[in-house]
Amino acid sequence: MATRLEIKPLDATFGAVVTGIKLAEIDEATWRELHATWLKYALLVFPGQFLKRDQQIAFAKHFGPLEFEMAAISNVKSDGTLRIEKDNDDVMKILKGNMGWHADSTYMPVQAKGAVFSAEEVPTVGGQTGWADMRAAYDALDDARRARVETLQAYHSLHYSQSKLGHETRKSDGEYSGYGLHNGPIPLRPLVKTHPETGRKSLLIGRHAHDIPGMDREESQSFLEELVDFACRPPRIYHHDWAAGDAVVWDNRCLLHQATPWDMTQRRIMWHSRIAGDPASESALAA
Ligand code: OGA
Ligand code: MN
Repeated sequence: MATRLEIKPLDATFGAVVTGIKLAEIDEATWRELHATWLKYALLVFPGQFLKRDQQIAFAKHFGPLEFEMAAISNVKSDGTLRIEKDNDDVMKILKGNMGWHADSTYMPVQAKGAVFSAEEVPTVGGQTGWADMRAAYDALDDARRARVETLQAYHSLHYSQSKLGHETRKSDGEYSGYGLHNGPIPLRPLVKTHPETGRKSLLIGRHAHDIPGMDREESQSFLEELVDFACRPPRIYHHDWAAGDAVVWDNRCLLHQATPWDMTQRRIMWHSRIAGDPASESALAA
């Protein structure tokens, strides 16, 4: 018998909490329902899953091939000791960088399709993850602005977004390399993305976006900042207060996300399985 999914929409334009399911054991019928639910809500939250590494990877693979199977997004080193905030090493720079609104891998030739993300250990306060609905943001633009963004494109670069924070990136050595730092031609992407499965349009913006062709650097920067500021506010945002064992899956083709600060003397261990984008729909424009 198929599992009975219980779907409780979040108090936002997107997102739902899903219970009545064990992600480690889903049958074909449940998968079909879950996939349709994901396309509709873009973010699904599954409390209390406590996925083992292999289970998380297997669940993520239902959505398609992975860009990478499992990365720790954590201020705890693999030897169990705490990363020191003021050391500001490459991982700390990524953790801080993640606190700006972004979509994953837009600075790569193919942006990500989505991610399965789970909490192993969480701080007592802060360290939430936020998501923002770029479909609803597109829909909420006034007619003039919507017509304008339809014509625009932007470059996407992790070198750009990290240097803006004073976090210089080196070549693809160091700990950035596992994160897919891209040193090839800088991808150019339209500001409006059409979702390959739902056909809905959304804003493709966030901290990696810069230098809209046809604008000078300052104009482009303030234009993009204003768009993010407009887009990432209620009712289009949701911040999840994690409990250990929670898992989520989000659609990176229509949402932005961000980490939020926490007391870095407290441990936060999160696991990220990144679902690869389809080159037919998630590739950058030809350079
Ligand atoms: C990521 C990310 C946010 C968080 O893993 O890509 O942006 O809350 N994480 O850690
Ligand atoms: Mn991210």
